[in-house]
Amino acid sequence: MSTSQDERPVPQPVRARAMGTHLDRQDGVAKVTGAATYAVEHPATDVLHAWLVTSTTARGRVASIDAGHALAHPGVEQVLDHTSAPDLADTEDRELAVLADDRIGFRGQIVAIVIATTSEAAREGAALVGVTEEAEAHEVVFDEHSSTYAPEEVNAGAETDTVDGDPDAGLSAAPVLVDRTYTTPFEHNNPMEPHATTAHWDGRLLTLHDSTQAVHAVRATLAPVLGLEPEQVRVTAPYVGGGFGSKGLPHAPQVAAALAALAVPGRTVRLAVTRQQMFALTGYRSATRSRVRLGATTDGVLLALRHDAVSQTSRIKEFAEQTATAARMMYAAPARATTHRVAELDVPVPSWMRAPGEMPGMYAHEVAMDELAVETGVDPVELRVRNEPELDPETGNPFNDRRLVDCLRRGAELFSWEQRPSAPQARLEGEWWVGTGVASATYPMLWMPDNTARVRALDGGRLEVAIGAVDIGTGARTVLLQIAADALDVPTDRVDLLLGDTDQPFATVAGGSAGTSSWGTAIAAAAERFRAEHGDEPAPGAASTATSGQYADTEGHSLHSFGAVFAEAHVHRFTGEVRVERLLGVYSVGRVLNPTTARSQLLGGLVMGLSAGLFEEGWRDPRSGHVVTQDLATYHVAANADVRDLRAEWLDETDHLSTPMGSRGIGEIGIVGTAAAVANATWHATGRRVRSLPLTPDHFL
Ligand code: MOS
Repeated sequence: MSTSQDERPVPQPVRARAMGTHLDRQDGVAKVTGAATYAVEHPATDVLHAWLVTSTTARGRVASIDAGHALAHPGVEQVLDHTSAPDLADTEDRELAVLADDRIGFRGQIVAIVIATTSEAAREGAALVGVTEEAEAHEVVFDEHSSTYAPEEVNAGAETDTVDGDPDAGLSAAPVLVDRTYTTPFEHNNPMEPHATTAHWDGRLLTLHDSTQAVHAVRATLAPVLGLEPEQVRVTAPYVGGGFGSKGLPHAPQVAAALAALAVPGRTVRLAVTRQQMFALTGYRSATRSRVRLGATTDGVLLALRHDAVSQTSRIKEFAEQTATAARMMYAAPARATTHRVAELDVPVPSWMRAPGEMPGMYAHEVAMDELAVETGVDPVELRVRNEPELDPETGNPFNDRRLVDCLRRGAELFSWEQRPSAPQARLEGEWWVGTGVASATYPMLWMPDNTARVRALDGGRLEVAIGAVDIGTGARTVLLQIAADALDVPTDRVDLLLGDTDQPFATVAGGSAGTSSWGTAIAAAAERFRAEHGDEPAPGAASTATSGQYADTEGHSLHSFGAVFAEAHVHRFTGEVRVERLLGVYSVGRVLNPTTARSQLLGGLVMGLSAGLFEEGWRDPRSGHVVTQDLATYHVAANADVRDLRAEWLDETDHLSTPMGSRGIGEIGIVGTAAAVANATWHATGRRVRSLPLTPDHFL
């Protein structure tokens, strides 16, 4: 850093010692032995349990609530509804305006909260609450007839539309044109641990032991909604069983847990969202429809492209999936245009799900590229190589050592791509058509400001590093320890890392694949300041805190990760069943800080992409707006038997522009492009081009 007085010091590069090694997961033993306490397991006495009662109409109002039968249940202590719940101070965010009034904005909205002595009694009580709803005409179907509008911006703050050159003229003049529409369905985040909160209000302090990706964001968002000062809210999340974006922003259940706690001062209330309730209350990926037009020379060199994307949002709160943003920077084309439109419906509020935007958008774009490869007779790997841009087509800036071609070439080698017949339906093994496909992946290098870390000397030469970040199961607790140890120039076993509590310095969300990059930069800055201020033999109690400046060189550079995904699909000639026998991802993500946890992240992303490719699909009943696929029996996700030969590799590299660790994020890129690779492999196996996910058997009959 320049000087220790800088308000936002930018740390020097951190020398890798522990970084890059296979340090074991620090919380592994605690997790597998059950010693790790998740949100509803937080030890407490005098505990009550809350259960959510939800609406059965998609739009309307609560006419009346009869709590008499519920209150007659011996275990039930209270029933909160919009007439009896503690008042909220700010109801502008309609998703968080729980029990604020009688309005119903979607099926599955919270209309009452039952508080009881046991979880079972709360659940029975919820069934006894009589809710009378007045239904109004609703609109829940998203299709090509839905009316749409242009949002002001798309997630997370990106431009709605972009245009460069004259793409329409370019498309009409192009010798080869691919003009196709691709759709992706509603997909629902299903972390292993459902959303849950243990809440306590002592009259001054509200404590939430929560399952969240961002303790500080929960506090910052909920405090004004509840009419409390931020200092009156403490949020902890020591262990979290996954989130995939659904725990990235606070949702209605956290407000419900807080309301329940405020209603019973001095008691502790546990609220566990059921798996079924998650399908309406905790966010999901909007369905998308993408029209992709690629105009090219007969050699497959792009002359113009358009990606026009439509997604669906909720009438009570807007979320605009940034489906077309990857098309802005992915390939060289002199003329490019992208647009986003949203259809507003009476449905639950969509939100983040792993690689929002890039996942559905790159599905469409990379299947379209495969179609262009077929049209031009150019090998799909070679086609992508031919369209490599020198500079970021969108900004004109150089990339941070863009290595997509290296990923494609290395993947092709590992996958024995050169043995692939170019024609489809060329290989029948027993009753299975066999084919292979490829797709590119990309994810932006994101970095979030304001992250702050504190280093303190403990007795016996130990050092404590504290940052209010959350390890949602990714390995952050382990990787941040490696970063901290290297930045402090001590072995990892001399460092105690404190995470997951708003009592620790400010940290941003475990999301946007930006956690390790953003928190790690803050830890490096605090460590550097600590060493400058306290030397090599700090007195116990000596401490330094730093809020880091931005290391990532975004001025004049375009920072992205890249990858190439290869899939081998087997499609049953009589039943249409698809199996993915081989799946390989090769990534360029900067320095890999821990090969064990990184591989796990990338494999997890590949599995989630495979799952989206083959199975995941939410269905709504048009009559009621009910998500009928609201459990894991009907909402299929890839299981162990679906995952066959699965490999993730990465290039050996260090990114000198993005972070002092040399790394970029890895949380999301594994899902990007994966469904496209699978879809392209099914085309190669069968000659059938499927343009809508998932690749269910009926497509191949
Ligand atoms: Mo991720 S969808 O940014 O938590």
